[in-house]
Amino acid sequence: MRFIKACFNEEQIMPIWLMRQAGRYLPEYMQVRNLAGDFLSLCKDYKKASEVTIQPITRFDFDAAIIFSDILVVPNEMGLSLEFQAGEGPVFNDVITDINDVNKLDLNAANKLTYVYDAIKLTRDTLAKDKALIGFCGAPWTLATYMIEAKGSKTYTKSKKMLYQNPELMHSLLERISIVLCEYLQKQIDAGANAIQIFDSWASALEPSAYLEFSWAYIEKIAKSLKQKNPSIPIIAFPKGVGGFIECLNTAYIDVLGIDWSTPLQLAFKKDCVLQGNLEPCRLYSKQAIKDGVLAIKNALKEQNKAHIFNLGHGILPDIPIENVHYLIEQVRNA
Ligand code: CP3
Repeated sequence: MRFIKACFNEEQIMPIWLMRQAGRYLPEYMQVRNLAGDFLSLCKDYKKASEVTIQPITRFDFDAAIIFSDILVVPNEMGLSLEFQAGEGPVFNDVITDINDVNKLDLNAANKLTYVYDAIKLTRDTLAKDKALIGFCGAPWTLATYMIEAKGSKTYTKSKKMLYQNPELMHSLLERISIVLCEYLQKQIDAGANAIQIFDSWASALEPSAYLEFSWAYIEKIAKSLKQKNPSIPIIAFPKGVGGFIECLNTAYIDVLGIDWSTPLQLAFKKDCVLQGNLEPCRLYSKQAIKDGVLAIKNALKEQNKAHIFNLGHGILPDIPIENVHYLIEQVRNA
């Protein structure tokens, strides 16, 4: 698999996949989602989840598929009731405020996520052998922010208030989430996932010292435990928005570091792991912007003698024209 070879820097190649590649910009996705009823029902229907996982590979021939699910199914199965409201995004009806709430979170949650493992098994059986299947989870910090705030936040005030007023409570929460995630990711690997990505979408909310203690330390712990048992499965970490202190991250247990568009590639090259991403997602609105952006990444890589996993700096947006995705792939592969 080209994707796996690139993760381990075995060949200086540039495979491509896109975060959120299965999603609303694809009419075939909308069709299956409408049949499923709503987003969460789609995640829990393993046959439909597998179908939409494969859709972007069929249409675009990407080098990797990412299993269709959501990072929030984990806190949902730990006991917090979750709704995806149209136009509103995810909302939890229960939140974490004290140690009693933390202690109530179900440590057995990984055993309840069978629909994810079933979707992985079916997808691995259906996908072409040369395409990698990526399993994933949210980082403990990013999941904790949703569990404390109830929904996405601009300021993360409740989460940070807990972090500074009661760091022990925050650590208990992160520890409990991490225990479940280790088991969850191992089960994804056992079901057939060829690589794992840990999404830390709200990494940028924290100052560097807090980030290292309350987020990266847990990502490292999870990655270390997976690496010991599964050395041939690459681990990708995506700490979004940490460009300013990327050098402080210990990447000993990580094979690939995902980088958003605010991080200069030259700064990220100081890390010795393979990099993924960096193209500003809004460049996909313009062919000229795509051409220039891909060329800039290719030029930066020329002096590096290193594989690169082509991706955006965050997920693809729902109103991106499909022909521009074809154009992007053409620029990456043939230009
Ligand atoms: O193709 C893929 O990348 C796989 C599927 C995937 C989804 N969510 C499907 C989804 C993955 C890997 C995720 C991860 C995820 N979910 C993250 C981390 C990555 C990131 O984007 O930062 C986060 C923070 C979430 C939580 C989440 N789920 C939000 C904030 C939203 C609403 C925002 C939006 O785009 O509407 C979701 C919903 C969601 N997850 C959708 C999809 C395709 C849209 C739901 C729909 O179909 O209406």
